[in-house]
Amino acid sequence: MKPFVFVLTVVALFQICFYAPASGSRHWRQQNTTQPNASKAPLENGTQVLQQMGIYSESKFHCPRRDFSHIQSKEGLKPFDHVFIFMMENSGNDVILGNENMPFINLLIQHFGFAAEYYGITHTSLPNYIALTSGSNWWSHNDSTKQIFDHTCIADKLEEKGLRWKNYAQSIPYAGYKGSSAYPQNSSFVWLQEHVPFLFYPQIFLDPARAANIPPLEELEQDLYSCNVPEYVFISPDICHDMHGGSDVCPAVTEYPNTPKKLAYCYNTKNNSRNCININNLWKKGDEFLREWIPKIMNSPSWTGNSVIIVTWDEANYNEELDVFTEGGPDTAYIYSTNFSFADHSFLIDGYYGGGQVPLIVISKEKPYHIVTHAKYNHYNLLKSIEASYGLDYLGYTSDDRQVKVLHEFFG
Ligand SMILES: *[C@@H]1O[C@H](CO)[C@@H](O)[C@H](O)[C@H]1NC(C)=O
Ligand SMILES: *[C@@H]1O[C@H](CO)[C@@H](O)[C@H](O)[C@H]1NC(C)=O
Ligand SMILES: *[C@@H]1O[C@H](CO)[C@@H](O)[C@H](O)[C@H]1NC(C)=O
Ligand SMILES: *[C@@H]1O[C@H](CO)[C@@H](O)[C@H](O)[C@H]1NC(C)=O
Ligand SMILES: *[C@@H]1O[C@H](CO)[C@@H](O)[C@H](O)[C@H]1NC(C)=O
Ligand SMILES: *[C@@H]1O[C@H](CO)[C@@H](O)[C@H](O)[C@H]1NC(C)=O
Ligand SMILES: *[C@@H]1O[C@H](CO)[C@@H](O)[C@H](O)[C@H]1NC(C)=O
Repeated sequence: MKPFVFVLTVVALFQICFYAPASGSRHWRQQNTTQPNASKAPLENGTQVLQQMGIYSESKFHCPRRDFSHIQSKEGLKPFDHVFIFMMENSGNDVILGNENMPFINLLIQHFGFAAEYYGITHTSLPNYIALTSGSNWWSHNDSTKQIFDHTCIADKLEEKGLRWKNYAQSIPYAGYKGSSAYPQNSSFVWLQEHVPFLFYPQIFLDPARAANIPPLEELEQDLYSCNVPEYVFISPDICHDMHGGSDVCPAVTEYPNTPKKLAYCYNTKNNSRNCININNLWKKGDEFLREWIPKIMNSPSWTGNSVIIVTWDEANYNEELDVFTEGGPDTAYIYSTNFSFADHSFLIDGYYGGGQVPLIVISKEKPYHIVTHAKYNHYNLLKSIEASYGLDYLGYTSDDRQVKVLHEFFG
């Protein structure tokens, strides 16, 4: 096994970070998070960049901070005042980095924390959401909303410590709705149940008091300004804003009638190029969504102390040419070499392993710096970081201390 390169890069103001894949072999590789000391160059403050652009303006009033004295964080982390997770859909680094339709996302990548070699767990969407919230995809590789994940999830662990959580879902008809897999129940649907992970745990969806923690997204704005936002916030945009698409009524579709319904259909199967120019508009809508909601959080009185915003994608794109999804990590805590090829079928059981390489963006109030790591991480490392921050028991694969480390570069 070859060691892989781990680089902590500090890039000066406005300098562009070029992404270069780390070298690797075709074999399983362990994560190596031994961190060489960071450069002593002055660190760029990404929040200041947003301020200079007129996007960020600190709230004059701040909500009272929670007393975390009963929390014993692990791994050298400390409790997050709030952790906000934006889960976008089906776009990999190959599509996102430098994409002119995603100016805000690329600005974040260039001025805040960026895990350059971060992976989904598997395909399709739902099992990635489940992995990030319960520590395993439990052998699921499909989006069927008939699936029930009767497993302990992070909401259970947070509540044990008296900590609060919500899964805000854009376009859900009402809190805790589980009446259909999509809503409205016709071709104009914009909400998909498969993107709202906490609706799949029976101990939550069968308990009205807990299901109330899955409200429409509008409630986030109220909670931010009324100092009621929970510690753990999971945000599920609707399919017009998650960069994946799929409905007749998405603004991108109505403004640009030829927008494909699925990103997958954008691929030209002969030459593997994207031949549907209107996919650009779905990407723009996703970028605008983050451009709207991230400042809403940062400019609110709830953006206090050790608060962080995470932006990531469930999985990377589907590749029709190969009739498989793009390469990436398998179900487990292990992470493939970036050179893994689907021509090598020895790792494939059903053709749906590997979640693909996706960006992980970290906006930390206390460390708003352009920190780039090339360590190989996936959704389990993110889950473990949140568990460690709140001193929770480690769920599923996150208990594998040898393979699954916390994202210490961002959350020291
Ligand atoms: C891990 O990375 C560090 C820093 O790059 C390196 O010095 C060390 O040899 C690596 N360890 C292993 C086991 O690969
Ligand atoms: C990965 O593939 C690229 C392109 O073929 C090659 O240049 C590189 O050396 C490979 N890396 C490893 C570690 O095999
Ligand atoms: C890194 O920093 C630590 C603490 O300041 C110091 O003890 C250690 O020697 C440094 N290591 C290197 C390789 O510079
Ligand atoms: C970063 O910049 C913002 C805006 O100017 C400022 O409020 C904040 O204190 C700075 N944070 C750090 C850690 O330097
Ligand atoms: C979806 O995955 C579940 C396991 O979570 C399996 O039981 C079911 O048969 C799968 N459904 C489809 C349609 O593939
Ligand atoms: C779909 O249902 C919604 C909500 O009931 C309704 O507003 C909309 O007009 C319907 N669209 C179609 C195409 O039937
Ligand atoms: C791929 O094929 C399509 C249809 O034949 C063509 O329009 C497009 O220009 C090709 N793209 C590339 C990058 O060759």
